[in-house]
Amino acid sequence: MSPLTYAALAATLLGAAHCSLYNESSVNHTCILDPPVLSCSPGADPLKVDSCCTETFGGLLLQTQFWSTYTGLEPLQRLPIDTWTNHGLWPDFCSGAYTQYCDLNRQYDPVPSPNTTNALPNGTVVPAWKGPSIDTFLKAFGRYDLIDWMNTYWVNQGAPNTDFWAHEFSKHATCFSTFDIPCYGPQYVEHEDVVDFFETAIKWYKRYPTWEWLNEAKIVPSNKTTYSLGDIEKALTKKSGAKPYIGCSGPRYNTTDAGKGSNDTGRTVVSEVWYFNHVIGRPQEGNSVPVNATSNSGCAKSAGALHYYEPTPGSVQGSKKS
Ligand SMILES: *[C@@H]1O[C@H](CO)[C@@H](O)[C@H](O)[C@H]1NC(C)=O
Ligand SMILES: *[C@@H]1O[C@H](CO)[C@@H](O)[C@H](O)[C@H]1NC(C)=O
Ligand SMILES: *[C@@H]1O[C@H](CO)[C@@H](O)[C@H](O)[C@H]1NC(C)=O
Ligand SMILES: *[C@@H]1O[C@H](CO)[C@@H](O)[C@H](O)[C@H]1NC(C)=O
Ligand SMILES: *[C@@H]1O[C@H](CO)[C@@H](O)[C@H](O)[C@H]1NC(C)=O
Ligand SMILES: *[C@@H]1O[C@H](CO)[C@@H](O)[C@H](O)[C@H]1NC(C)=O
Ligand SMILES: *[C@@H]1O[C@H](CO)[C@@H](O)[C@H](O)[C@H]1NC(C)=O
Ligand SMILES: *[C@@H]1O[C@H](CO)[C@@H](O)[C@H](O)[C@H]1NC(C)=O
Repeated sequence: MSPLTYAALAATLLGAAHCSLYNESSVNHTCILDPPVLSCSPGADPLKVDSCCTETFGGLLLQTQFWSTYTGLEPLQRLPIDTWTNHGLWPDFCSGAYTQYCDLNRQYDPVPSPNTTNALPNGTVVPAWKGPSIDTFLKAFGRYDLIDWMNTYWVNQGAPNTDFWAHEFSKHATCFSTFDIPCYGPQYVEHEDVVDFFETAIKWYKRYPTWEWLNEAKIVPSNKTTYSLGDIEKALTKKSGAKPYIGCSGPRYNTTDAGKGSNDTGRTVVSEVWYFNHVIGRPQEGNSVPVNATSNSGCAKSAGALHYYEPTPGSVQGSKKS
């Protein structure tokens, strides 16, 4: 077969197997030839640009991280020392709304959450994945380095790390236009999009050393001191270039002893951060413009209302087992 016939055949097969988000052709995505366009700008229009080269679907990228004090699966699964853990890289719409599980042909999540594509009973059911865990896809490419890194910094709570990675891929990565299968062209090797997404998510995570940035502002995990939302936001805004979203769990401030009588119903345990960006060209390249968070923090805003807890000693890698 001539290369052209082969490419045409591959395109047909891929086209039949995968209903891509943007109907990109499978043959021409040489992004080096395309001027990179800023997502969420008027130019990032799928009719004007190659949506494999400019993010035209989920142009508001969120790099998300967790702060946890345990995993629930110690001693096998533990937290890294002095580091927030990776949550994921999400493609929100420019408005801040989002979709999920956009390509059910790439559904590898053993416990889909939500279990329908629109999180409502009338949505398309997301079937649970019964196949091998997602690390087997990485092993097929010999990417044990990635697996090691991910087991250190991309750590799940209450279930195996591989479930979490599969969840992040299937729920979020499938909603980017730039990780769509046709973007890999006629030479696509099954699951290379999975490797590509994990590498990209890691690249973005590494740009946001949240623990260090807070430490520089003298905000360190403590079971004795409390902190103010404003100080945390200020420190991370200064370092990242835009206001991130801070997520909290735990009791509402006015239900705690410290907040008794207050009208502040925000939650009090710091547990997440989301950094927002628009992206220039492909997210894989990592060129971006920071933007302020589009979601408001649900954390308590009163002075000194927030706990940034120390991890449980036996839950941290390299510390002595308790
Ligand atoms: C892709 O093609 C399908 C089927 O023709 C169509 O329903 C859908 O609207 C198209 N999507 C885009 C983004 O053009
Ligand atoms: C891709 O190739 C098709 C067919 O040759 C062409 O119509 C289209 O404009 C090309 N797309 C880009 C972004 O170059
Ligand atoms: C999805 O989850 C909801 C809430 O847990 C449950 O009531 C429903 O039966 C589930 N639907 C499917 C299709 O599994
Ligand atoms: C699904 O239900 C929601 C609210 O219950 C409704 O707003 C929406 O239009 C429904 N969608 C479909 C596709 O029926
Ligand atoms: C906390 O504040 C909310 C809203 O004002 C109120 O409904 C709730 O009763 C309060 N809870 C306590 C324990 O004071
Ligand atoms: C809560 O109380 C403060 C003063 O104690 C007041 O400035 C603020 O408007 C109140 N907020 C709400 C939501 O009632
Ligand atoms: C974020 O919001 C602040 C306050 O409104 C504003 O001064 C700043 O320019 C905004 N930053 C970005 C990157 O848009
Ligand atoms: C700090 O407090 C958290 C939350 O109660 C707890 O999970 C953790 O084990 C504590 N860490 C230490 C070192 O006491």
